[in-house]
Amino acid sequence: MPRLLYGGDYNPEQWPEQVCAEDAELMRRARVNLATVGVFAWSKLEPAPGRYEFGWLDGVLDRLAGNGISAALATPTASPPPWFGLAHPEALPVTADGVRLSHGSRDTYCASAPAYREAALRIAAALAGRYRGHPALAMWHVHNEYSSACHCELAAEAFRGWLRARHGDLDRLNEAWSTAVWGQLYTDWAQILPPRATRYLPNPAQVLDFRRFTSDELLAAYTAQRDVLRAATPGVPVTTNFVLGGWVPVDHARWAREVDLVAIDHYPADPGAGAEEEAAFAADLARGWARHGTGRPGWLLMETAPNLIYAADRMHTKEPGRMARQGLAAVARGSLGVLFFQWRAPRGGAELFHSALVPHAGPDSRVYREAVALGEQLDRIAGTAEGAVRARVAVAYDEPSAWALQAPGLPSRRLDHLDEARHAHRALWRRGIVADVIGTLGALDAYAMIVLPGHYLMSDAQAEALRSWVAAGGHLVATFLSGVADEHGRVRTGGYPGALRDLLGVRVEEFHPLGPDDRAALTTGAAGELWSETVHLAGAEAVVCYAGGVLDGRPAVTRHAVGDGVAWYCSTRLSADDHGRLLGAVAASAGVGPELEGVPRGVEAVRRHAGDRSWLFLLNHTGTGHDVPAAGIDLLGGDVVAGVVRLAVGGAAVIRER
Ligand code: GAL
Ligand code: ZN
Repeated sequence: MPRLLYGGDYNPEQWPEQVCAEDAELMRRARVNLATVGVFAWSKLEPAPGRYEFGWLDGVLDRLAGNGISAALATPTASPPPWFGLAHPEALPVTADGVRLSHGSRDTYCASAPAYREAALRIAAALAGRYRGHPALAMWHVHNEYSSACHCELAAEAFRGWLRARHGDLDRLNEAWSTAVWGQLYTDWAQILPPRATRYLPNPAQVLDFRRFTSDELLAAYTAQRDVLRAATPGVPVTTNFVLGGWVPVDHARWAREVDLVAIDHYPADPGAGAEEEAAFAADLARGWARHGTGRPGWLLMETAPNLIYAADRMHTKEPGRMARQGLAAVARGSLGVLFFQWRAPRGGAELFHSALVPHAGPDSRVYREAVALGEQLDRIAGTAEGAVRARVAVAYDEPSAWALQAPGLPSRRLDHLDEARHAHRALWRRGIVADVIGTLGALDAYAMIVLPGHYLMSDAQAEALRSWVAAGGHLVATFLSGVADEHGRVRTGGYPGALRDLLGVRVEEFHPLGPDDRAALTTGAAGELWSETVHLAGAEAVVCYAGGVLDGRPAVTRHAVGDGVAWYCSTRLSADDHGRLLGAVAASAGVGPELEGVPRGVEAVRRHAGDRSWLFLLNHTGTGHDVPAAGIDLLGGDVVAGVVRLAVGGAAVIRER
């Protein structure tokens, strides 16, 4: 019988023996089956260079194994010990302002420093040697949330090497970086620096390449550890927990090809209903990375907070039942389990009030009781682990495009590719249409419809892949700024959106960015926000026009039949509902509907399939009860469902369908 993974980060090194003994008992009661251990334990494992103290970890792993709990054993390399930085000051990170950081927190390392890379490999190898064959070892969790850039001399040298490999010679680099602007021509590789603090606007192409370099540099640090671990323990999957956000200098779509399992951490920023929408986006993104990276759609929610959402300036305690429902929602979208940060709330340290399955109050608490209940629920739906989500719609989210749109000097400071991708996904989510969020424009045949929400950077190869996919019957919806720049961030001239002009059948002459309170009225009665532009038809037909203002009567939304498919263009940002209407209509014409008809808004319905079997997950995120059409057996409640299932306020059902 397959099982869903359940548990989270476990830090027994913070606690005395009797607490750890209680942990084992409490984990068993909650049916925890996976504990992530050792993530920040480097200084305890190697208190002095080359002196290892594994005894305590032996005890932890033995106890876990003795209680039938597996370990995702971490390499602790995200948090070097204090001695490390003192012995190797050149391996401490330097900010863009030239400040060398000190130890005292975590992530105080430079991925380009040989001393760091060697020390990281040594501790990884020591752990692998010690615990190969240990019955608790189920998975390697390398590092933690790779995301730290460095601007030091060592990074500069590595950056130059990376640039040589990417651009070949300086002429090509100067061309790609448009260094003729502001007289920044490079005549020697040694002149090139990371984008350190400078006088005025930095060169956006340099910043973009530095992000890509950082992603590759961190990836090399990851794969070096992975290879050591794989060699020592073939068959034990190796992964690392991806952290999401536009600020992260990591191209996860590329990384997904190098992990055995895509694992993400997810901390929504909206305490309201938006958290469920954010979580669905993150899940569908993880699944998209997995499907196109590892080649399998399964992914793992490696960290999420049990009982808080941190928003604005405070922690919001989750409502009763929400933790479990959000956990089930992740499983609904293909997660292989539900892991939390963290098992037990710490007494001190940097995150002392971060929520946990065992809170400061102890096990006599709502959260722990809910954790026990969730453990039972996950056991009841263990069979769903076999199933995979099937999505015929994709939303493209391209991390380099997100980085490029963060550059200063663009037509609006409010452009955000991640926001636009979430916006499109939210519009689909609210209509119950299941979508993969994909980070590469390859293997598109699986999809009947693709949304490009402000996919700013586009190579010729990507544009060609889209063109042939549309010609073969695909339904594309591109929104403003998609395809405007090439992969170096240079504008494609002759009319926007350069790379997609022919496919979309439009030529955009100029932009009219909107202010926060501006609205662009449309002929449908809807209004656009954020952005508008002068669109000329060049093969496409206008479906919606601007109404009033300087753009009065000009096309706002267009449709272009190409081969067997259709390419739509939306030149402004529609509200989520209006965008949903457009995307819903395009989906319908592509033969795709909601996962389940007749589901009220705020009730999530998603299926996992295995062969001809299916499990329907229904999650009521609303404040009222709902009757939803379904038939089969509700695995959570044990009832036979014949036609309609009643979902209580905040309730869930997982129906094994007939
Ligand atoms: C994650 C991180 C954890 C913990 C958590 C707190 O990003 O991996 O170690 O800091 O955030 O929310
Ligand atoms: Zn450095």
